[in-house]
Amino acid sequence: MQILVTGGAGYIGTHTCVALLQAGHQVVVLDNFSNSQPQALARVQQICGQPLPLYRGDVGDAALLQQIFAEWQIDAVMHFAGAKAVGESVVQPLVYYRNNVTASQTLIEMMTAAGVKTLVFSSSATVYGDPHSVPILENFPLAPTNPYGRSKLMVEQIIRDHCTATRADLGFNGIILRYFNPVGAHPSGLIGEDPRGIPNNLMPFIAQVAVGRRRELSVFGNDYPTVDGTGVRDYIHVCDVAEGHVLALTQLHGQPGCHVFNLGTGSGVSVLQLLQAYAKASSCDIPYRIVARRAGDVAQCFADASLAREVLGWQATRNLTDMVASSWHWQSMNPDGYCSTTV
Ligand code: WQD
Repeated sequence: MQILVTGGAGYIGTHTCVALLQAGHQVVVLDNFSNSQPQALARVQQICGQPLPLYRGDVGDAALLQQIFAEWQIDAVMHFAGAKAVGESVVQPLVYYRNNVTASQTLIEMMTAAGVKTLVFSSSATVYGDPHSVPILENFPLAPTNPYGRSKLMVEQIIRDHCTATRADLGFNGIILRYFNPVGAHPSGLIGEDPRGIPNNLMPFIAQVAVGRRRELSVFGNDYPTVDGTGVRDYIHVCDVAEGHVLALTQLHGQPGCHVFNLGTGSGVSVLQLLQAYAKASSCDIPYRIVARRAGDVAQCFADASLAREVLGWQATRNLTDMVASSWHWQSMNPDGYCSTTV
């Protein structure tokens, strides 16, 4: 199938482009490079040996979307483009609602006008907020606690309402994938996580300490009711997440309706457990300091991924060692991310 991938130069986007191309699909990328590098797409082509047509621009640009749908026979859209930093969303909520909600509505409107009926949407476990228990099922209460999570839930609702609209001829197919904590990198070491500025997330921060770009990790609290007092999350290899997208598309394309799945491993790992695994895989000392809790953090968040296994036949296959070893392979080959010249 011909797939439009928005945000295709980003972390999850590049890994999914590789998985799509290697599964025999054709890919067109739309990206504004606000949080990614053009070099990332060159690396995807290096891995796959196939062309990757690119449109540089915003998902919210209706005229550009109309041009893409006129120039390509798009069968489905995978929508990754958007802002994704929880802390930043608290500071600039309107930016998040414009980039994530308004732009996504424009995309859905232009898809519908062009007769493109399948959308795979990059959602997030943050739509659950602070769960009443773990593991988390798809039918748990949806109570995001920050504008980023609320923006993701708003788009989910737009998709759900569009799928169930009274216009029976719509036949829109919305596939919503709620990621837990994607980490790691493609085994080639050519693509990986390359956040701009100071990393918000744990894994890229640890990776930058290991490679010597950061002095020490600040551990945000060790007084949570968890195995060792530090936060517990469901880290999932980004290649497992990418493969989940391909399988969801293959299994559900042409089946109108709204489908929602958790993409997680079903296991929780603490901050200190991840740090120790990384130190072992990289043979690097990773200094850390316990500091105050980070506002908005929850103690534990990990998935029940049985629905994706039962309906899509998908489950994560890579373990914690695979995650930290692949992250280290990417970071050690690209100490300054895509700006590195070592590769
Ligand atoms: C993980 C754990 C922190 C950094 C967020 C988004 C989610 C998704 C992934 C987009 C927590 C601790 C972190 C640090 C630390 N993003 N930590 N020191 O908050 O679970 O999820 O990113 O989709 O939507 O909400 O991930 O990696 O920021 O934090 O101690 O420097 O690591 O307290 O326990 P999080 P994270």
